Formats: sequence, structure tokens, C-alpha cells
Amino acid sequence: MGSTRGLGVKRGRPLAGAFAPPGDKSITHRALCFGLLAAGVTRVRGANPGEDCARSAACGEALGALVERTPGGWELRGTAGTLRAAHADLDCGNSGTTMRLLAGVVAGFPAEGTARSFTTRLTGDASLSRRPMRRIAEPLVRMGAHVHGQGERCTPPLSVTRGALRGIHYDVPMASAQVATCVLLAGLAASGETMVTLPGPARDHTERLLPVFGVAVERSELRGGGRMVRVRGGATLTAADVHVPGDLSAAAFLFAAAAAEPGSRVTARDVNLNPTRTAFLDVLREMGGHVTVERARDESGEPVGDVTVEGPDQLVAFDVPAEWVPRMLDEVPAWVVVASAAAGTSRLSGASELRVKESDRLSTLAQGLGVLGIACEERPDGLEVTGGEARGRGRIATRLDHRIAMAFAAIGCRTREPVWLDDVSHVATSFPGYFDMLAALGAGVVSGARGREKS
Ligand code: S3P
Repeated sequence: MGSTRGLGVKRGRPLAGAFAPPGDKSITHRALCFGLLAAGVTRVRGANPGEDCARSAACGEALGALVERTPGGWELRGTAGTLRAAHADLDCGNSGTTMRLLAGVVAGFPAEGTARSFTTRLTGDASLSRRPMRRIAEPLVRMGAHVHGQGERCTPPLSVTRGALRGIHYDVPMASAQVATCVLLAGLAASGETMVTLPGPARDHTERLLPVFGVAVERSELRGGGRMVRVRGGATLTAADVHVPGDLSAAAFLFAAAAAEPGSRVTARDVNLNPTRTAFLDVLREMGGHVTVERARDESGEPVGDVTVEGPDQLVAFDVPAEWVPRMLDEVPAWVVVASAAAGTSRLSGASELRVKESDRLSTLAQGLGVLGIACEERPDGLEVTGGEARGRGRIATRLDHRIAMAFAAIGCRTREPVWLDDVSHVATSFPGYFDMLAALGAGVVSGARGREKS
């Protein structure tokens, strides 16, 4: 299946079985990035096996870490805070997290054998090259780095010249964990204290994982779901063993497919249940899906459990409160899977950040639903989806966006004719093996334009 770019998915039997989702992508990026800065050998077990995290590992190697792939992840000997200046561009591929986190690192940390400053050029693929980097350039410049991108939105390629940084107090304008993490990483190399405030409940893996690497982080919650996070410059990181739990954002597509098909029942083992990520499970419950959590526990500072989702006879529409969106940012494509199967009209608002993900997800989702004959209204900051019979056959433009491909494949699990995806190669950025897993759980996966049935 790996060789084909396009693929079709149609109804097989109701989905049934247990699966282990790939390791959490956000936590893997952070473990690799902190391991790069740490003294000693960091082991990242259960790492996300996708191309995005492999980019972070390769960039870490270019910046001086000794990196090795191990059976379940990565092992890296860090730089103890003194990088090697990268001689070639750092290719971040499709990964916004790689670019934004590493920009914070190279803006502030010194490199051996260079005078005070050196310049790093960060590049990406066609999707990443359209994404705004102004949001990280602005605070990094205020701290004393030089950052140069393309045009008004400061899109990649991005050149970052290291400066002797000063700590700042920065109010992140949007609930973005990537921006907050970029500033906090730069803050570790800055003089004095760096404080960020977030206007909403963006994921907090950075604050949970930095202490595992021996860095003190102060945090307090703000009214309205946001928070304040503070670090002190000059911190030294100590290597750590990190056990990465399964990625809820990956499992979400299989949960959505199961919830949308009566009689389905799937279990994801060892899934991260960080409360800044779990709003999609709350939405499933509100819509009538059966969601249960077993073996709840803590690992590497993160809550983990086994999650089972069962498809009810009929899902019911639900309007997602805008304040839930930061806690289900990457699950909006999975929400479309259940909204398109529910009785009634479901609404989502407060999601304009979706326009600057790997694709403009609001418009890509609306267009794809149109192809399948599902009524969908696109709003500036959201979508209105009216559930109904999805007709297969149409071809979905996935626009270099892994989550768009996974969402429409999940909708295909309930169509008689296959839903055709024009290009599924980007699914490997976060979830290699997704289509095999879908097929193993019971979906009909058809390879190639007129291909054979996979199951
Ligand atoms: C991520 C944060 C989110 C999310 C992305 C990964 C992270 O983006 O969409 O897939 O690992 O910090 P924001 O920066 O918009 O929060």
C-alpha cells in the first residue's frame, strides 16, 4: 500500500478490535528537542514513528546531537546546551512543530566554535512553506534574535540569527502551544525570566516534560482556561528516559469511524489522556457515543489509559462550545466524521486557527464534504455540518494534509462505494500504518485507482 499515492476506503464490517495508536507526536517532538539540549543520553521509547518526528531527530543531529534509532524510538546524546552550527538548511518537511520549536532553540543557544552569533535556515515542504511564522518571529525578535521570513506572514524559509537573548513577558495572542514552547525554549537560553501567558487551554506537554529534564517551571491557571508559564534563563537540562504514550489525535480517527457506524467497538491501548487534549472524547459522549476509560494511570508526567468507543444506533448533532476548541484542535477533522453521520446539524466555532494548519482545514473539509454530498456551511471561524448519507465515488483533495486524508478515510468506513483520496502519502507524517490498521479493524481499503480489495 505504501507505493500508491491514491487510495479508496469503503464499508467493510462494523469496526471491531483493539489497537495501539502511534506514540504521541507532540510529546515525541519535545522529548527529542529537550534531549538535544540536555547533557547525557536521552531515551525516547514509544516515540511517534512518523516522518514529522524523524525530521526533528534529523535536525537535532544536524545541530550536534548523536542520534540513533532504536526499536521503539530514539536514543540521543545531547549537546549540553552548546549546539553545532548547522552547515546546511534544516529541512523540517511538513512539520510546523519542528520548525517552531527549533527556531526557539537556535535563536538563543550558543554553538561551539562560533563567535556570539550564527544563522540557521529552516525550510519546509509546500504545505509548511505557506504557514505563518510571524507568530514566533515577533517574540524572538523582541528577545534579541534576528528572524527573517518571506513576506508579511513571515513564511518559510526562515533564517534565524542567534542573539544574546533577554527574557520577556509575552502574551501569546492565540492559544498556540507551539508558540509558547518556542518562546520558553528561547527563554531557557535568555538572561533573566521569561514568562508567557496563553489565552486558552493549549496543550501543556512542555510544562509537564521540562521538569522531567530537570528544569523548574512555574505555572498558574488564568481565568477563562488560559495559563501563565515561567522559566528562568541559564537552566541546564539533564538527559531523561521518556515513555511516550499513544497519540489521542491519531486514535481519534478510528474512534470517529467506530462512533459513526452502529455496532462498532474499538479499543485504543495506552492513550495519552492529557486534559488539554481530550475535548473530542467529551464531544463523542455528548453526541451519544459510548466512551469508556480503563487502566487510568500516569507515565512521564502524563495521564494515560485504555479507551473504548462504541457506535450507538444513531449519533445526535451537537454544537461544540468555542472554548472547547483548543482542547480538540487536531481532532476537528475527526469531528467532521461524526458530525456528518449525526442526526441534525452540528456547529463548530472559534476555530479560525484551523485555517493555518497543514492545509486550510475549514475549507478543505467543507470542499471534501461537498464531494460526498454532505451539507456543510463554511464560516470564517468554523463549520456547520448536517449529517446524512455519504455518497462514495468522489475524489477528495487531501492537500498535503495527513489529518484530512485520515478523516475522509474514516468517513469511507460507512459508504457503499469507496471514498477516493487523491494522495495519502502524507499520512506517514504522523500515522504510518493507518490504512492497515483500518483494514485490520474491518474497513474495506482499496488500493490504487482501480485496485484490489485489501480486506
Ligand atoms: C502542537 C500544537 C498544536 C497542534 C499541532 C502540534 C504542538 O498547534 O495543532 O499539531 O505539538 O505543540 P498550536 O501551536 O496551534 O497549538
